[in-house]
Amino acid sequence: MSNNNPIGVFDSGMGGLSVWKVLREHLPHESLLYFGDGARCPYGARTREEVLRFTVEAVEKMLAQGCKMIVLACNTATAVAVKHLRATYPDVVFVGLEPAVKPAVLSTESGIVAVLATRRSLEGDLFRQTSQQYADRAKILAVVGEGFVEIVEQNEEHTPEAEQAVRRVVEPLIEAGADRIVLGCTHYPFLREVIERVVGERRVEVIDSSEAVERRVEYLLDERGLRADEDHLPQYEFASEAGEEYISKMRAKVGL
Ligand code: DGL
Repeated sequence: MSNNNPIGVFDSGMGGLSVWKVLREHLPHESLLYFGDGARCPYGARTREEVLRFTVEAVEKMLAQGCKMIVLACNTATAVAVKHLRATYPDVVFVGLEPAVKPAVLSTESGIVAVLATRRSLEGDLFRQTSQQYADRAKILAVVGEGFVEIVEQNEEHTPEAEQAVRRVVEPLIEAGADRIVLGCTHYPFLREVIERVVGERRVEVIDSSEAVERRVEYLLDERGLRADEDHLPQYEFASEAGEEYISKMRAKVGL
């Protein structure tokens, strides 16, 4: 395995591209192989068994293509599968994604933090443990971003319907006093602009996990001595069983 092999980045669909963009920006020598399971997206309301099976299948494909590290750029897949994957492939480096509850809880002034994520993520042990851990520091309002994933998959972020969907979810949270909104699903950062428009002048901060995950990836590349060569020309590959058109849409979403 060469250090110039790609980092695999996985999501149920296009959401993980929000993480891909940050990885590409900060790690300009690294090749990236993105797998978006657009044919079976969304994962958020699927059973644990389905999410586990789909995630394992995708990871096996990425490993077969020589990925040197796997980023589960999907909170839902992480919540369901990361433990299993680490136990099954002890030699593989996995980086998972979790809602950034900690920075929100540590910085809230109102003491009320909203976490937006999929149903499967919010019902998982990982999130339950995290919210229990911080329960005495802040009140956590955990809510599903109903319809958000579909909007992002259909490239409809800039439509009036998107704004309506965001308003329906976000407005009650702000009215309830939340001054931090955690984007606990990698699709949601594509709606950040709309969310911030809905927030308007109110003192509410929107927080997502992509920068923290990127730092974790860098840390692990260094710790394991896996960084690509300084003169390596990175390749960006996109894969999906949803077909060529979907692959073109993924490329377009990141401006390629
Ligand atoms: N992007 C995924 C996440 O971070 C899941 C979206 C979905 O498929 O429901 O949770």
